[in-house]
Amino acid sequence: MSKELLRTEHIKKSFSGVMALQDVQFDLQEGEVHALLGENGAGKSTLMKIISGVYTRDSGDLYIGGKKITHDLSPISAQHMGIGIIHQELNLCPHLTVAENIFLNREFTNTAGVLNKKKQNEEARQYLNQLNLNIDPATPTNKLPISKQQMVEICKTLSLNANIVIMDEPTSALTEKEIEDLFTVIALLKQKGKGIVYISHRLEELSRIVDRVTILRDGKYVKTLNFADTNLPEIISLMVGRALTEKFPRIESPRGEKVLEVKNLNSNYGVGVKDVSFDLYKGEILAFAGLLGAGRTETVRAISGADKASSGEVVLDGKPVKIKSPKDSIAKGLFCAPEDRKRDGLCIRMTLAENITLPSLDVISKFGVIIKQVEAEKTKQMVSNLRIKTPSIAQYVRNLSGGNQQKVVVGKWLMRNAQLVIFDEPTRGIDVAAKIEIYNIINDLKKNGIGVMFISSELPEVLGMSDRIIVMCNGRITKELITKDTNQEEILHYATQY
Ligand SMILES: Nc1ncnc2c1ncn2[C@@H]1O[C@H](COP(=O)(O)OP(=O)(O)OP(=O)(O)O)[C@@H](O)[C@H]1O
Ligand SMILES: [Mg+2]
Repeated sequence: MSKELLRTEHIKKSFSGVMALQDVQFDLQEGEVHALLGENGAGKSTLMKIISGVYTRDSGDLYIGGKKITHDLSPISAQHMGIGIIHQELNLCPHLTVAENIFLNREFTNTAGVLNKKKQNEEARQYLNQLNLNIDPATPTNKLPISKQQMVEICKTLSLNANIVIMDEPTSALTEKEIEDLFTVIALLKQKGKGIVYISHRLEELSRIVDRVTILRDGKYVKTLNFADTNLPEIISLMVGRALTEKFPRIESPRGEKVLEVKNLNSNYGVGVKDVSFDLYKGEILAFAGLLGAGRTETVRAISGADKASSGEVVLDGKPVKIKSPKDSIAKGLFCAPEDRKRDGLCIRMTLAENITLPSLDVISKFGVIIKQVEAEKTKQMVSNLRIKTPSIAQYVRNLSGGNQQKVVVGKWLMRNAQLVIFDEPTRGIDVAAKIEIYNIINDLKKNGIGVMFISSELPEVLGMSDRIIVMCNGRITKELITKDTNQEEILHYATQY
């Protein structure tokens, strides 16, 4: 019989009257990986934040290591009780180094309280090695790409040596190789008898590591199953309350004129953009495939003026344009939904309505004054189109669940009459049902003759949605493919062509 590490019973939690969890049970045994699944807003992160002392429960029981916890936990006391959590959103201090982030509040000091940087860096290196991470512990974390930042976040939690390791969407920003390294570490943790709570919307990866699954729906407990006794269709129907049939609602529509032409674009940011040239047509979905770090985001940043291109030409609707900034790119009808929503995509301290209408201020105002009624109408329509789960349009974006924040990023650009929309990993962290909603929206754009640039690291969605595929690797285009004539193997072949 394995030993119980954690149990919750009848957990309830509401936020200003909105029920996030009602009567939720969950348990975790030694040496197991227990997946917690559910749609965006189902309450997964909230439950884990209660267990790790970030939120206090309204009622219900919590047992850690068989002992009933009667007092309120704080993040520090939960940590002392052996609970480590990798949060869904990055929580690193961007200007501190990798080592400083890993050992934040637990700095290596000598008896006089003076920081021993060298020792701290050496210790950090050990944890980085465990994850095969070849980065200098003295690098400021904001200099790292987002996948590496996520790995540092994981290192930080591992360094706590916790018995209960909660991973809230750890892989949503990782490369395939990093996912492999993480899975190796998870196997090692299991061997040592630790328990892992695993939250992910990438359901395909569950079979690799998971022992049991618990499903939540709308804040309610649905079921706990042995993974060996179930399958993905059953899990999905328990999550969304119905069976999902068509995964990729692909449409055929005629291709129009050329809307964008990029010629010999170069930039020196990140992995760099090296001599990138391509065309995009109206009514076309052009996918950019590749591994994370292939230079796709850098390409978009150089096109939209977020980074300064060192050379190259951008022709929009037949006219050569110089796009100097993202603001300028909006003015010219080119919109971009970025991959790092917290940093580039949202003002998390503003409301949902304010965020979603931000690029459309001209549409919702008259003589420079925002007409609140129009703002509300437009926002409500988008909330309903995208099925954004929120108690009201005045909700602060930081209080929305991760997936619902992502929908706001997408929704922002759908408000505009664009000629061209660039989506950078639009379905990251989005549940299966909501993914289909986003696909439908992208299809609507296509039907309306808008050119769509669709960056995705998930090959099934690239193959399921696009008309044409550009494969990138190391900042270069390695191949252009017609979607209906290609397959996963061929794309991967060109995505790894160094
Ligand atoms: N601090 C908060 N204030 C108000 N509402 C909140 C807060 N935190 C969470 N919520 C609400 O609680 C519900 C559950 O959110 P939670 O973040 O737990 O969902 P989730 O299952 O983790 O979803 P996702 O898959 O999108 O990450 C949501 O409706 C969310 O808006
Ligand atoms: Mg969450």
